[in-house]
Amino acid sequence: MKPNVEIFEVGPRDGLQNEKRLISAQDKIALVDLLSTAGFQRIEVASFVSPKWVPQMATSAQVLGGIKRASGISYAALTPNLRGLEGAIAAKADEVAIFGSASEGFSKANINASIAESLERFRPVASAAKDAGIPVRGYISCVVNCPYDGPTAPEAVVSVAKELHAMGCYELSLGDTTGQAYPEEITKMLTAVREAVPDAVLAGHYHDTSGRALDNIEASLECGVRVFDGAIGGLGGCPYAPGASGNVASEAVHARLTALGYETGLNADVLEKAADMARALREGDLA
Ligand code: HMG
Ligand code: MG
Repeated sequence: MKPNVEIFEVGPRDGLQNEKRLISAQDKIALVDLLSTAGFQRIEVASFVSPKWVPQMATSAQVLGGIKRASGISYAALTPNLRGLEGAIAAKADEVAIFGSASEGFSKANINASIAESLERFRPVASAAKDAGIPVRGYISCVVNCPYDGPTAPEAVVSVAKELHAMGCYELSLGDTTGQAYPEEITKMLTAVREAVPDAVLAGHYHDTSGRALDNIEASLECGVRVFDGAIGGLGGCPYAPGASGNVASEAVHARLTALGYETGLNADVLEKAADMARALREGDLA
């Protein structure tokens, strides 16, 4: 059954990228293989970034090469530049994502570029991915607050959203990177973004540092958003957003959406098993 609200599982990337303990490719593969049986349509499993910046993602090609690919699931990878795209194509990622920011401070800290420079860097990536027939998703970080610059103006989000949409991103994932946003702020930001791009391309990517991610999802549903990123077990955070905790837990999003009467297409028992496995991976005691 096609879900009427989709949860895009990003735990193996956004979750694990931030774990201090180096997790083996084999353990990541076991987690992805279990997640592949939960009913997700898309799972982000890899990131082709500098291993000096994010050592945890250095095994991305091994992970993409080792998973049991289930038919109908798109296995995704982050690609900050052309070199990253080449790595993702060689490892047979089904789709890729370019990742920018609505705030200058985070852009510099995360990808060592101003917003304008990052967009110039993304343009050839989006175009080469299109030539290779690979769908490109676009992330926009710090859509409400930035750990370096403070509050983000909705207009700054609109400006990056328009650029990424024009580059051909099929979906824009709007990140509350620090997990500090309030529902009213999410609504204000989305109201502005919806005037610039269609609702159908919007996704919410909410970290849960302040425990408001589920409320922010409810506010986003009111604004027409029907895709939400989640990390199984609430894994992770962002190495360049100090103090930010993990993405909202996929199993909690599933429970809230189900309680609200939405269909996610996910199996709650498998989600629970995968959340246990994610926590065991974090603690280093996977059997
Ligand atoms: P740079 O220093 O400006 O670029 O980094 P560079 O071209 O000068 O390269 C620096 C080094 O990285 C060189 O190695 C390159 O070879 C290497 P060295 O000569 O020092 O040994 N390099 C690469 N290695 C592997 N794969 C590549 C690659 N490109 C260059 N593709 C760069 C620019 C973007 C590469 C760097 O800043 C970087 O890798 N940043 C990663 C940041 C990151 O992964 N952050 C976490 C993900 S984003 C996130 O979590 C937010 C999100 O979840 C949404 C939200 O929550 O808001 C998506
Ligand atoms: Mg994130």
